[in-house]
Amino acid sequence: MILVNDNFKELPAVYLFTQISRILAKYKEDKDAIPLIRMDIGDVPGPVADCVAKAMHKAVDDLAKQDTFKGYGPEQGYAFLRDIISQKDYKERGINIDPSEIFINDGAKCDLGNLGDILSKDCKVAVMDPSYPAYIDDNVIDGREGKLEGNKYSRITYLKCKAENNFFPELPETNVDLIYICSPNNPTGSVLPKAELDKWVEYAKENQSLIIFDSAYEAYIRNPELPKSIYEIEGAKDVAIEIRSFSKTGGFTGIRCGYSVVPKELMGVYSTGEKVALNPIWSRRQTTKFNGASYISQRGAEALYSEEGRKSVIEMTDKFILNASNLRKMFENAGWKVTGGTDSPYVWAGNPYGMSSYEVFEKILKECGISTTPGSGFGEEGEGYIRLSGFNTKENTDKAIERIEKWLTNH
Ligand code: MLT
Repeated sequence: MILVNDNFKELPAVYLFTQISRILAKYKEDKDAIPLIRMDIGDVPGPVADCVAKAMHKAVDDLAKQDTFKGYGPEQGYAFLRDIISQKDYKERGINIDPSEIFINDGAKCDLGNLGDILSKDCKVAVMDPSYPAYIDDNVIDGREGKLEGNKYSRITYLKCKAENNFFPELPETNVDLIYICSPNNPTGSVLPKAELDKWVEYAKENQSLIIFDSAYEAYIRNPELPKSIYEIEGAKDVAIEIRSFSKTGGFTGIRCGYSVVPKELMGVYSTGEKVALNPIWSRRQTTKFNGASYISQRGAEALYSEEGRKSVIEMTDKFILNASNLRKMFENAGWKVTGGTDSPYVWAGNPYGMSSYEVFEKILKECGISTTPGSGFGEEGEGYIRLSGFNTKENTDKAIERIEKWLTNH
């Protein structure tokens, strides 16, 4: 008999972005439908920078020659990439992260789920509401959710993020073991200032909790006062794992490469009470279940740290911020509640008509040919909102703005 992980019964039938893709596939079947502009999933329009393409071509050539051929690489990632990340993303910003604390992966989403392997099923989890849906789904698959009551799981703590509080999460009233924080935030686009992160690091220290800090969108921060890394907060190396991605930084959604930082200071405890460092446990997990990200993608990621690569990151992210900020202005002018669009590629827009997220999503899709993401898909607190992504060409974004503006004037 094939006994299946019962936790799958507890998941929503389909993952949020799969559901949206299905709706859009159906939409496209209608020959009379307005040509679709996608502003739902945060996928980049491409192309990757020339220096990245060249580095990956060269990596392919390396594999084609006997003396530069590579077989299995280090499961934790090649030293050339770990060293440059340590230097450029951390040491140059005054943060001491050793290359041995950096683990290269095939995308942030994978590690977000895989990290559950090293954590007990008994951990009490807290997520921001609204939040990136994988945080909850991953924990449901691992069995940390409890019972589904209405739209919420009984063992998960939902940290309400409300407009009146800039969508900053509130500290939980009870003790939680594992806290997911995303800043710049997906979906709300809000960015946690240092004082807010200080509170969380202090909470984690007091409660012996682990923070999983998702900073996939750090390259969009332009305000120098805002922290890009949780390790800018004193003591964070004792309590936090940071997850980053080259997808939104270098347009790597199709290449697949990111990294996680698991500091040496980070200690956990077995159920027997014995203390254990998480860095070697994570390395042990990776050596068993992962054979490393591809040499080609890692050489591509390395190129993002060259002078040309760094320029390309700024140019690309600037374009998406401009798109997002133009979308933001449009909704603000129409009297919607809006966040994001500055220091973030996302715009989070709450409609003033009392419509549900899915109603707005459907109307804007049918009447404008624009796909958005319904805010309630990210959690109960997202009801009434839609998320729009600035990851698009300026031409498409301007066209979308023209169509939505017309729609807004008729409401
Ligand atoms: C999003 O649209 O929320 C993201 O692109 C999804 C992801 O990064 O997996």
